[in-house]
Amino acid sequence: MNKLRIGVIGAGSISAMHLDAYAANKEVELVAICDMNRGRAEEKAAKYNIPNVYTDVHELLANEEVDAVSICTWNNTHAEFSIAALEAGKHVLCEKPLCQTVEQALKVEEAVRRSGKVFQVGFVRRYGQTTQILRRFIEAGDLGEIYYAKASYLRRLGNPGGWFSDKERSGGGPLIDIGVHVIDLCWYLMGRPKVKSVSGNTYYKLGNRANVEYFSFYQAADYDATKNDVEDMANALIRFENGASLMVDVSFTLHAVKNDTTISIHGTKGGAQVEPELQIAAEKHDVMINLLPQADRLSFDFVAGFNSEIEHFVGCCLGRLETLSPVEDGVEMMKMLCAVYESAASGQEIRFDINR
Ligand SMILES: NC(=O)c1ccc[n+]([C@@H]2O[C@H](COP(=O)([O-])OP(=O)(O)OC[C@H]3O[C@@H](n4cnc5c(N)ncnc54)[C@H](O)[C@@H]3O)[C@@H](O)[C@H]2O)c1
Repeated sequence: MNKLRIGVIGAGSISAMHLDAYAANKEVELVAICDMNRGRAEEKAAKYNIPNVYTDVHELLANEEVDAVSICTWNNTHAEFSIAALEAGKHVLCEKPLCQTVEQALKVEEAVRRSGKVFQVGFVRRYGQTTQILRRFIEAGDLGEIYYAKASYLRRLGNPGGWFSDKERSGGGPLIDIGVHVIDLCWYLMGRPKVKSVSGNTYYKLGNRANVEYFSFYQAADYDATKNDVEDMANALIRFENGASLMVDVSFTLHAVKNDTTISIHGTKGGAQVEPELQIAAEKHDVMINLLPQADRLSFDFVAGFNSEIEHFVGCCLGRLETLSPVEDGVEMMKMLCAVYESAASGQEIRFDINR
């Protein structure tokens, strides 16, 4: 059997999820890794037995042994590295968010079309077990027309610092980092309606709260709290052309009594709570009922989600499957995210041309 030969670009925190999943996949051979931090790349190369180590992405892309790459670097590199990889003839799995601007997103989309290669955006929650269970109910019509969704991803204390809190490298704060996951998940479950308008607010009130003691939180590989010019908190109302709407709020820091990850969608025949635990709301014989699926997992599991996302990507590269998270969806997501920032800055609702 010909194995798919993988190169991983970026050897920081999230690369471990990609590397573990590739290493566990019998159809894959890990052949190359790149990070501008050589020590970090070498450490991963030793752990996963990867023969080729680079600090320059273009050298990795010039290696003809590499069939496909995972891009696990800072957000400001996603568009450039995606386009370079496609032009070098590689299939690409690019971590979320697709990039930082709509203009960049359209350039990546164009490069995907030109290359004819597989391109998967790392919307990992689409590949979660609960998402796929719920999709069955939605596709069978059990929820009817989905007209409302609501998502909160609120951290009281969780600004990861380093590049995450440097707008130039990240593109923004909690909205583009964690908001992208929950907005995308709702939008995917809603059937990906076209966005009509976006009204958003961003707040820069609390900073990163690096002063807080006795409470640990996720930190970037190169944690540094000195630079922070991203929002602490964002909220938005997104309207779609089919009349459906989505309300979202996200934070890195917020005075709240607990963290909150809740996601729900609501339709004419039924609804669903997606997080913190999958449950389906229905009505039968004039009685309201909540259905609790009996499955191994009822909330998003990181490791299983990444395994499933990467297994799917490998299946696409080997010609068996079509990606569940194509570049076009990455472009639409960038339109929504950028419109939230634009709306917040201008204090106006952003409307999209319905003829686009
Ligand atoms: N899907 C998810 O749930 C999830 C979770 C966390 C992070 N991410 C995404 O993964 C990406 C990486 O995040 P992370 O948490 O691993 O960050 P990280 O800082 O831990 O790692 C990023 C690595 O990229 C390297 N790098 C940056 N620019 C480079 C360049 N030009 N050339 C070579 N190496 C370069 C850095 O040296 C660093 O080791 C981000 O886009 C982030 O949004 C996704």
